[in-house]
Amino acid sequence: MIRVKKIAHATYETPDLDKQIEYYTDILGLNLIGKEKDSAYLASTIDHHSVVLRKGGGERGACTRLGFQLGPDDDLDAFVKQTEAKGIKTSRKKDPEPSVADMVTFEDPKGTVMEVFKRGEFMHQKFPQKGIVPHKLGHVAFFVKDVKKVTDFYCDVLGFRVSDWMGDFFSFLRCGVDHHTINLMRDPEDRHFHTAFELRDWGHMLTACDHPSLNGYKLLWGPGRHGIGHNLFAYHRAPNGLITELLAQLDQMNEALGHFEPRPWHRDRPQKPKVWQKDPSASNYWGIMPTEEMHK
Ligand SMILES: [Fe+2]
Repeated sequence: MIRVKKIAHATYETPDLDKQIEYYTDILGLNLIGKEKDSAYLASTIDHHSVVLRKGGGERGACTRLGFQLGPDDDLDAFVKQTEAKGIKTSRKKDPEPSVADMVTFEDPKGTVMEVFKRGEFMHQKFPQKGIVPHKLGHVAFFVKDVKKVTDFYCDVLGFRVSDWMGDFFSFLRCGVDHHTINLMRDPEDRHFHTAFELRDWGHMLTACDHPSLNGYKLLWGPGRHGIGHNLFAYHRAPNGLITELLAQLDQMNEALGHFEPRPWHRDRPQKPKVWQKDPSASNYWGIMPTEEMHK
């Protein structure tokens, strides 16, 4: 099976484009790489873009598309064949967006557009000097009506692996060494839950809490340490209403050994993919539970 190797970017419809660009550049610390009348491309490092903003949507933003990168030796034609063989209708576009020469698109079961491509050229941006400046886009979490169906789609069509479940209602899926790149929580609605960016370490988390607060952004939850994935976390809300997570120390999978790289904060030795019980420590080992705000 041809599997996607990395999340490349996420696309958001957002009501106030300029305000959201200001947030991504001044607060998060991404580079504004390209701007057109109703869209903007923002980057962290060598990829042309990690975030695409398009003017639109309702009062609140929405995550409408996710870009996934194949490996240099993967064949896009073969990937199309593999996808169509599963009964999924695909479209193909040449030069659909900057730095992408050839892209196949199709929808996941909740209607988010999957954009699968091979990275042709790297842009070699430098890390910016202002804002939080994360290492990379880490994961995108969604509320979904049918968690089993959407989980199966990411595994069967895109080649994700299940890292953990909480009960039968919250799945954590990986497409590389990171514990999760997509996570899906059962809910009456299909909608974005949060988007996470990766930090260097605990010291960087200080900046990720202080810098937004100096600019009027309050934490919704954290800092804390999740049980599932074991990452440090802090959440706040972006101007378009969507939640941003900053994380560090996410579990790293050693596929050959079948367990996550051992860490002092693990309770299982070795730490293997499993079904976690719905227990407060699965959410936060340090004890503070999420507020109602996290579910709005
Ligand atoms: Fe997360």
